[in-house]
Parts: sequence; structure tokens; C-alpha cells
Amino acid sequence: MNTILMNDDIPANIQRQHEDVSPVDRARLTGQTPVVIWFTGLSGAGKSTIANCLERKLHAGGHHTMLLDGDNVRHGLNRDLGFTEQDRVENIRRIGEVAKLMTDAGLIVIAAFISPFRGDRELVRRLLAPGMFIEVFVNTSLDECERRDIKGLYSKARAGIIPHFTGISSPYEAPERPEIVLETSVATADECADTIVRYLHQSV
Ligand code: ADX
Repeated sequence: MNTILMNDDIPANIQRQHEDVSPVDRARLTGQTPVVIWFTGLSGAGKSTIANCLERKLHAGGHHTMLLDGDNVRHGLNRDLGFTEQDRVENIRRIGEVAKLMTDAGLIVIAAFISPFRGDRELVRRLLAPGMFIEVFVNTSLDECERRDIKGLYSKARAGIIPHFTGISSPYEAPERPEIVLETSVATADECADTIVRYLHQSV
């Protein structure tokens, strides 16, 4: 049976093991403050493009980063998951745990997932210390994503070939108070990435 543990459930017979080197110790060696920069938005909104551009800039600036991207993670860790509501919840739960582990390792984590459900994103936020979760809403309208249809998935979804497609046959819940909102109809990917770099300099 597939048992999903809630955030606060403690698995029976499993205790916490002490580790001598703490997340703070690891971060100190990197000389940076680990955070999770979490992109959310519709498929085709521009999340991956901006996330990639952001990582390039941070990497060039000497930061230790890791990029987690929906399509890529679904080829490996989450290859057993589809796009039903239950599978999407599990997708984000696992990514949240992985992102948390990577911040424990001292990394700046850039995560780009549709992550359509507000509650799932809030669970990830609560896994991390205050200020460590930076929610970036890539605010590209459904009309615009569908007009671009870069991967050809919207036309397949409209034709009924892809079920549970976000924005068409599956819901998307926009963030209510994201740290950053990006408007891709008025700013390039490079400008959007610069907006995030400025935020990091000012707020982290
Ligand atoms: S999430 O909803 O669970 O967060 P995730 O970001 O991992 O989604 O994966 C989204 C990517 O999977 C999309 O960019 C698209 O390329 C592809 N995809 C395939 N089927 C679907 C679908 N039914 N809905 C949305 N995206 C899909």
C-alpha cells in the first residue's frame, strides 16, 4: 500500500540521528545564504528559461547552485508520477524535501515546477526557515502560453489527447503573496533574472 506521511507525522521506530556538521557549518564554508527560489506558473510561462538564466548569473557570480526543473526531475526521481492531483501533490512534496536537503548542503536551489496547488507550495515554505523560501510567480496568462505553445502541448490538450492539462482540464492556483511577480509579456528572461538577483542582494 502506498502510505503518504503528513508533514508532521513521525514514522514509527525511526529516530533522529545526530550529525556533527550542521547545515550552518556547511553554509559557512560556501560563504552564501542557502535559499530556495521557487518558480511557479503555467506550462510555457517561461519558468525554465528564466530559472536557467538565473542559475547562469548566480554561477558566474561564484555561487553554489542547483537547478531542479519539472521536465527533468520527471525523467528520474519522479518518473513514476503522472499528472493526476494526487501525483502532482507527491511530485511537489518530494521536490520540497529534496530542495530542503540541498539547502542543508549549503546550496542555493532554483526550482521550476508548475506546482499548481497553493497548499503544496505552502508546505514547502514551511519545511524551510523563515525567509528561505522565495516564491516567484511567473505571471504569463493562459492565452499567451497557449499562443506560444512552444512544446505543442496546449493543442494536444485542447484536442483531448493530454488529460489533466494545467489551465485546460486541471486547475492552477496563483500565489496570493509571492515574494516576486514576473511579467514575461513586458520583460525579457534576462531582465526577469536580474529582478531576482536584485531581490537576493537586497533581502537575503
Ligand atoms: S506539476 O504540476 O507537477 O508541478 P511539473 O512542473 O512537474 O508539473 O511538470 C510540468 C511539465 O510537464 C510541463 O512543462 C509539460 O512540459 C509537461 N506536461 C505533460 N503533461 C502535462 C499536464 N497534463 N499538465 C501540465 N504539464 C504537463
